[in-house]
Order: sequence, then C-alpha cells, then structure tokens
Amino acid sequence: MSAEKTIRNVFDIVDLSVDEIDELIATAEDIIANPDKYAECCHRKKLATLFFEPSTRTRLSFEAAMMELGGNVIGFSSANSSSATKGESVTDTVRTVGCYADIIAMRHPKEGAPVAAAKRTVVPIINAGDGGHNHPTQTLADLLTIHREKGRLNNLTVGFCGDLKFGRTVHSLVNALCRSYGMNFVFISPDELKIPEYLKEGVLAKSGVPYLEADRIEGVIPSLDILYMTRVQRERFFNEADYIRLRDCYILDEEKLKFAKEDLSIMHPLPRVNEIAIEVDDDPRACYFKQVENGKYIRMALILKLLGVRV
Ligand code: NCD
Repeated sequence: MSAEKTIRNVFDIVDLSVDEIDELIATAEDIIANPDKYAECCHRKKLATLFFEPSTRTRLSFEAAMMELGGNVIGFSSANSSSATKGESVTDTVRTVGCYADIIAMRHPKEGAPVAAAKRTVVPIINAGDGGHNHPTQTLADLLTIHREKGRLNNLTVGFCGDLKFGRTVHSLVNALCRSYGMNFVFISPDELKIPEYLKEGVLAKSGVPYLEADRIEGVIPSLDILYMTRVQRERFFNEADYIRLRDCYILDEEKLKFAKEDLSIMHPLPRVNEIAIEVDDDPRACYFKQVENGKYIRMALILKLLGVRV
C-alpha cells in the first residue's frame, strides 16, 4: 500500500474552510499570547519565498514568520535574480525549489501561476498574490484584524474603496466574507475600476450578500463598520495616462472621517500611495499597521498547518 502524503496548497481563500480559518485565527491568537511555545516548532524546516513581483510586507512577513518558528528561509525577491531571465518556466523553477524547501510561498504577475506550478511540485504551495486575481494570505491577515478589532466576522457593513477591478486583496476578502452571515458590502470606485462581473455573477449572486455600488466615499461612510481602502494598481494598467487620471480618485482624510462611526475600522493592505492622508495614521480607527503585524502571526499559523506541525 502506498503511503502517499496529501499536499495542501492554498491558491484561493476558499481552499480553506470556514472552520479551518477559525482554527488559524485561534492559533494566531495563541502565538501572540505565547510566542515562546512556538519558537522551535519548525526547527530544520525551510520556507522558500519565490517572488516574481515586488513585495515588502508579504515576503518579509512570511520570512519573519518562519524565523519565529525556528525555521530557515531561502528564495528570491525578484524574477531578475532567478533563472526566469534565462527563459526557465515557472513550473520548472518551482519544481526545482521543491527539492530544497519544505514549503513555498510564491508571488507571480500571471493569474493562476501557482496552480500551474503546483502540478509538478511535492511540497505545499501558498499563493502570495497572482496578478490581479487572488491574495489569500492578505485575506487571512485581514480576517484576523477584523476578528481582533470587532470580535466577530459577521454582521458587518464593509466598504471597499479604490481599485476594485485589479485589487486582488479585495477579490479574496469578498470571497471570504461572503461566507459570513449578516454582511452588507458597499463598493466605492470610479466606473473604470468597478468590482469584476465574475464576482458579481459568481460569489456575490450565490451568497446573496446585499451590496451597493457608489462613486463617492462621502455619501456612504456613515453606514460603514469597516472601510477597506486600496491603491490604484498602476502595474496592471495598459495606459499610464489612465493611471494618472484615476490614481487620486479617493483620498481619505479627517474631514471625511467626521461623518464615520466612532468604531469604524480603517483598513488598507498597503502599500499606501495617496489614498489615506498621513493625518489619519493618528486616528484610533486606523488599523492598517495592525494588519501588517497580524500578517506575520497568521502566516505562522498557516505554515504550521500546512507542514502538519502539532504544538
Ligand atoms: C497588496 C498586493 O500585493 O496585492 N499588498 C500586500 O500584499 N500587502 C496590495 C497592493 O499592492 O496594493
């Protein structure tokens, strides 16, 4: 009888069940409370971070997560420093790295690249962002943040603002929150950057979460429990003139926040360009640097889960 090990990959947030996400949040909370308990859990294990696209938070939080679990890290931070420049396929690169590492986090500009890469690889692969498609581990960081801020993941009115067309963090978070009850969404964007039809016709229609579309923050901000701001995704535009025209379409400042709830949570996956004024950083409702920190803890929890490490 063959004792084949099942490999768990995370390409999409819905690759994790609601119960598994609850478990990851509980583990992350325990890591925050008892970091020493986890300090040697991944001794002699290696995480590879393969980043074919720029990153600060996602790559470094994955690496910091593995180090805090007592493991090691290998990888590259740009396609230019890998054999991709020699013409190697992503599948071959990832298959190669699977011979050296126990788990892989990869980011790639092509939608679906991690799925293709996983076909020939025998270690777990985590999608750390594929083009304008998905970004499941940012969503885990967002869910941990919402849970910590609000004490729940349901009965919330969430506003998503900015580039809802290309913003992969929005797509993954919408998918995740459509599984909660009592949700309402408000999609705030210019016409050109609206939430994609495939989400409207797919998960939004199926889940029945009520939503409205708006083109200004001002009119809708009083109703929100969470305001999830995003930057306009310059790298996904074909035309620089369109980017310049749209990049400053929303700037959240204290003036606009006067009309918001006192317990609004202001979120942003970062990097921020101009869409949140610096003055907002001192507002107690600003959560975006908490998201950054939570990103490390939830990735620690995910690494433990995918490696099957019991603590
Ligand atoms: C996001 C991404 O890469 O999609 N950043 C991140 O991972 N925290 C958001 C963005 O780049 O705008």
